[in-house]
Amino acid sequence: MSQRKILVTSALPYANGPLHMGHLVEYIQTDIWVRFQKLFGNKCTYVCADDAHGTAISLHAEKQGISPEESVALINKERVRDFGDFHVEFDNYHSTHSDENRKLSQAIYLALKEKGHIASRTIVQAYDPEKQMFLADRYIKGTCPKCGADDQYGDNCEKCGATYSPADLKNARSAISGATPVEKDSEHFFFKLSDFDNFLKEWTRSGTIQDEIANKLAEWLDAGLQDWDISRDAPYFGFEIPGEPGKYFYVWLDAPIGYMASFENLCQRRDDLDFDEYWKKGSDCEVHHFIGKDIVNFHCLFWPAMLSGANYRTPTKVSVHGYLTVNGEKMSKSRGTFITARTYLDHLHPEYLRYYYAAKLSSRIDDLDLNTEDFIQRVNSDLVGKVVNIASRCAGFIKKRFNGQLSSHNIAEDLTTAFQKAGEKIADLYEEREFSKAMREIMALADQANAWIDEVKPWVVAKEEGKDQELHDICSAGINLFRLLMVYLKPVLPAMAEKAEAFLNIAPLNWQDSQTLLLDHEINKFKPLMTRVEVDKVNAMIEASKEVLAQMSTAKPENQTENSWLAQEPVADEIEFGDFAKVDLRIARIANAELVEGAAKLLRLTLDLGGETRNVFAGIKSAYSPEALIGKHTVMVANLKPRKMKFGMSEGMVLAAGPGGKDLWILEPHEGAEPGMRVM
Ligand code: 2FM
Ligand code: ZN
Repeated sequence: MSQRKILVTSALPYANGPLHMGHLVEYIQTDIWVRFQKLFGNKCTYVCADDAHGTAISLHAEKQGISPEESVALINKERVRDFGDFHVEFDNYHSTHSDENRKLSQAIYLALKEKGHIASRTIVQAYDPEKQMFLADRYIKGTCPKCGADDQYGDNCEKCGATYSPADLKNARSAISGATPVEKDSEHFFFKLSDFDNFLKEWTRSGTIQDEIANKLAEWLDAGLQDWDISRDAPYFGFEIPGEPGKYFYVWLDAPIGYMASFENLCQRRDDLDFDEYWKKGSDCEVHHFIGKDIVNFHCLFWPAMLSGANYRTPTKVSVHGYLTVNGEKMSKSRGTFITARTYLDHLHPEYLRYYYAAKLSSRIDDLDLNTEDFIQRVNSDLVGKVVNIASRCAGFIKKRFNGQLSSHNIAEDLTTAFQKAGEKIADLYEEREFSKAMREIMALADQANAWIDEVKPWVVAKEEGKDQELHDICSAGINLFRLLMVYLKPVLPAMAEKAEAFLNIAPLNWQDSQTLLLDHEINKFKPLMTRVEVDKVNAMIEASKEVLAQMSTAKPENQTENSWLAQEPVADEIEFGDFAKVDLRIARIANAELVEGAAKLLRLTLDLGGETRNVFAGIKSAYSPEALIGKHTVMVANLKPRKMKFGMSEGMVLAAGPGGKDLWILEPHEGAEPGMRVM
């Protein structure tokens, strides 16, 4: 079989916040697929980059008082470390704010323009007179024209679900400066997507995307394609459009071109890779994109149309995955299930998660649930209880009784042959991204190996006279079965495979090694390859997540949906008056406030309720120094069930308002309100 040349990408993460469990579904999925291809012997190249442009990124930088470039660089540092620690191994990790991307974006735009695929017209848009910038819909807030809910975004109401244009909002204001927006004309540039109607109807049905996605796209295609607005006015962090001073490419124009740019940047360092060979029209190389289902329109309509219009090849496959839920619900900051990559790594081993995701991933776009109990159970039972167990049951005898030397005879021929045959099916499942099925096959093999060992009982044979050869053969076969499983698990568990290779005293395994056995070979001392997941560590991770995320910005990203790969915590449900009446709100005097050792966000408050005092931990350290609080009056929930926190008991909650960080204010009552008074 000839070696395939495959270029693989994962979606480029926005450079305005930390990586979290939701992102990792995609990077781990892609990384497993890439590692499988490499292990199998294909020439596979995995590139990615920071998605650095757009308003969300420049606002994020502005909040920190640094330039967008500086902010992107800071985030890049964290993120490269996070990816590395999860064993997500890119051949190149670049940035969309790069020379390669600027050149390619301009060239593609000019090629489209030359062929008449770019139109321009003047549109009316909301403008922030104070900030002197145009406002995208999500940067306008106001009162819903339908239900009257306040603080709704400019395009839809989260309360009643109405959609409308920002001009219909009542009391509209800029979410950035608070100013009242005015309407202003501006010339915009559009990509004429409908020019590609026929091309897209065919492309979307040519095996490039899952059927369920192709069906959705067919609905859009039948409804007729609209021109796509690809320009934004200054000030905008991005690339200026050639020949149009003050006009910038919309971030989503240059983002996918960032895939090419990252590859181009890699080609400059690698003699064996040629940009044109991969990207020219009619190329025999493959290009695979892995994405979440929220960005299908960008990847399955705009992107192939742009490539086709600019005379490049189009993607071989776009593989779409679903969202992540944790314990059956959307990730939630208050429940501590909005877990960043770093918080996870502070508590748990990265390969637990790689295995767990693999055990749940399929080629479909269903959502994936990270259930913490199932996670603990699955990892412990499969990896520790089944796979590692095989090696640990056999290794000791080989070392002690046979000097580390494996037997030259295979006593379990049927079993090893079955294991070797299974390789083909498992390879197909990896190729098809049916990882959960692949894991099930592998674990079924592990069960067979353990059942066989139970049957032949090396620990009994070891005590019998004159049965040395039998013991030697049994344990050697066990080690061989373990080795075959490690070949199959290597795409998922690269670090554990490396430890296994050291134990087996062999060169790095590749897929074809599954067709051979280790006979008459010396192995090394066995060291535990993986330890059990501890419940306490999972709980500690959840607790830590509650703290870390109390502060994170919740700015919406630059497309119409919520942040990629996970949906955010929903707006609280309506409650009955009776529920509200249960809340005992009291005026409290802050008798004392102090720092809490080891807590990044918390202050310990001693609250005087007029005779009675309460100890309360409040996540307001970012906004107040302890001294500034002492003596103030505030409002507290006095009948909240005491909660045990890492730092002690918290006996209530103080009320504060604001988006977080420095912008957080405890509620301060007017004079006359005395400690202990009921708030009505
Ligand atoms: O949705 C997102 O998070 C985008 N930053 C993904 C970009 S993918 C590609 F097109 F660049
Ligand atoms: Zn509404």
